[in-house]
Amino acid sequence: MSERKKILNNNYLINNGWIKVKLNNSKKSALHHAHVSILKFLKKLIPTLTCLEEYHKYIMSDNDHLEVQVLVSDYFQNKNFIYDIVYENLSNLTPFIGLDLMLQKKPYLRIARPMKIIDNIGFHRDTSYGSSPYELSLSIPLCNITKMGSLSVISKSHRWPDIDLNSKFIDSDRVTKNSKLHKLGFPYSPIIIPNTITRQANPIHTKFGEGLLFSLSLIHGQEVNKSRFTRFQTDVRLVNSLAVFNNHRSSAAEYYEQLIETPATYNARYFQAINTN
Ligand SMILES: [Fe+2]
Repeated sequence: MSERKKILNNNYLINNGWIKVKLNNSKKSALHHAHVSILKFLKKLIPTLTCLEEYHKYIMSDNDHLEVQVLVSDYFQNKNFIYDIVYENLSNLTPFIGLDLMLQKKPYLRIARPMKIIDNIGFHRDTSYGSSPYELSLSIPLCNITKMGSLSVISKSHRWPDIDLNSKFIDSDRVTKNSKLHKLGFPYSPIIIPNTITRQANPIHTKFGEGLLFSLSLIHGQEVNKSRFTRFQTDVRLVNSLAVFNNHRSSAAEYYEQLIETPATYNARYFQAINTN
């Protein structure tokens, strides 16, 4: 077998559509800083809250939860925690995506309380919503979570053709376009994949200090957080800036920010710019 074939055959992300990556979670890390800052922010709203994992014991009503989630999500996005987290862990990510790297500007902050179906968007593949298969998602727990609270995936489903899924779009009965829930990342026209397929999904225990990196054609999600703890998590998209890229949601320039660029690409762009009329 050639060296090239050996490398491809042994590549976990190529074969399974997902991989766990190590993230720095030391006391001085950007991830730890985000965790502590979110808790501090929440404590202003809920002074008796002691840890993120116990959030559901303090915010009982779904309406209160929605209001809190909007506030904490805005805070998370405006503070740009994700830039520092990804930048600090670049060396663990670039082997999978390269150094010409764009990062989603405003990643969603997800909060899934125990046994609350409405906190989850269920199983899907993001390419069904118009995302590019060149994009990757990096799901990052922002607190401690157990296996039953982790996101699930169907390994190898990134290679399944759409036609085999028998999926269909429905109109959500609680999410409307541009509503609070929509802005928090809940689709107003979610895709439904039959449970003959979704029952093949398995939770990938992704601890605080790890990230789950996966192709957007991989079927992933969670129907309900079956653990006893609230999960705070973000998922941010990464894409190679030279990828063939078709973004239906908004222009790539609005959605993504260039995080890093190779000198070769920088020079090429410069040369093209001075030679374009
Ligand atoms: Fe997704």
